[in-house]
Amino acid sequence: MVRRYPRSAGALCLLGAVGLAFVVERRSSASSIKVPPGTVTVRVPGLAFPLLVLPTVYSPGEDSLQLASAIPSCKGLDVLDIGTGSGIQALVALERGARRVVATDINRAAVDAVRLNARSQGWEDRLNARLVEGAAHGAYAPLHRGERFDLVLCNPPFFDSTGDKAWIIAGDPEHALLRSLLAGLREHLKPAGGMRIVFWGPRGIELLESIAAGERLRLQSISKSPDIVPSPELVGMSGGELDSARSWLEVVEITPFEAGPRPP
Ligand SMILES: C[S@@+](CC[C@H](N)C(=O)[O-])C[C@H]1O[C@@H](n2cnc3c(N)ncnc32)[C@H](O)[C@@H]1O
Repeated sequence: MVRRYPRSAGALCLLGAVGLAFVVERRSSASSIKVPPGTVTVRVPGLAFPLLVLPTVYSPGEDSLQLASAIPSCKGLDVLDIGTGSGIQALVALERGARRVVATDINRAAVDAVRLNARSQGWEDRLNARLVEGAAHGAYAPLHRGERFDLVLCNPPFFDSTGDKAWIIAGDPEHALLRSLLAGLREHLKPAGGMRIVFWGPRGIELLESIAAGERLRLQSISKSPDIVPSPELVGMSGGELDSARSWLEVVEITPFEAGPRPP
């Protein structure tokens, strides 16, 4: 049986340790966009407008912000945002000039959230939000055959959540989503394309490196947070995956080996 962890801790992982860098407000009813009750607005550095976070949707944390701030200029690019949540990275990509963003999530409320947020800026024509349906939850399940992107973004669920760790909210059983993300990357990238993913060090980065090596993918560090000493509760939540002495958040770029090194 999967136990639900309280929502306040659902904005998971390292956040409690590093603090939140934004303000959460109850949404005013005097809005031109209709939103479900319980929706909050979150102000995120780098976005000029407040993000709507619908109930049950992952509320942006330090992991979200770190990936968002590592999004390069997207002028004219096709971007894929896997596990979009509130849509924070999809929206930054749109703001930075993306030609088109495909945003996916298994949570229907997240798909609604990114659509609402894009509509609030008049960007709905450049956004295609897709729900991951059915049993096939691989990272690229909602894509059409041959669909390719210049930039893939992902802030995946961080921890394995099998067995007695099944209570970890938004966990990734046996890191299956992460593995599928790397296994299918080459097939969905344009020739000079790459993926930017936020993960945690040291053990998560080691895991990424070992999966990437098996898939003939190259890793390059883009940004790294200061060291964090996670609380014992957090280490417990991770099922022992978080190093109890020190951890960090890191954005890495992943590209196929044959594409050659990319400029920083
Ligand atoms: C850590 S949250 C990140 C949300 C957002 N991108 C952010 O940075 O705030 C992970 C998201 O992945 C979604 N997710 C989990 N499994 C997924 C899957 N198989 N395909 C697509 N999205 C998935 C969750 O519903 C959740 O919204």
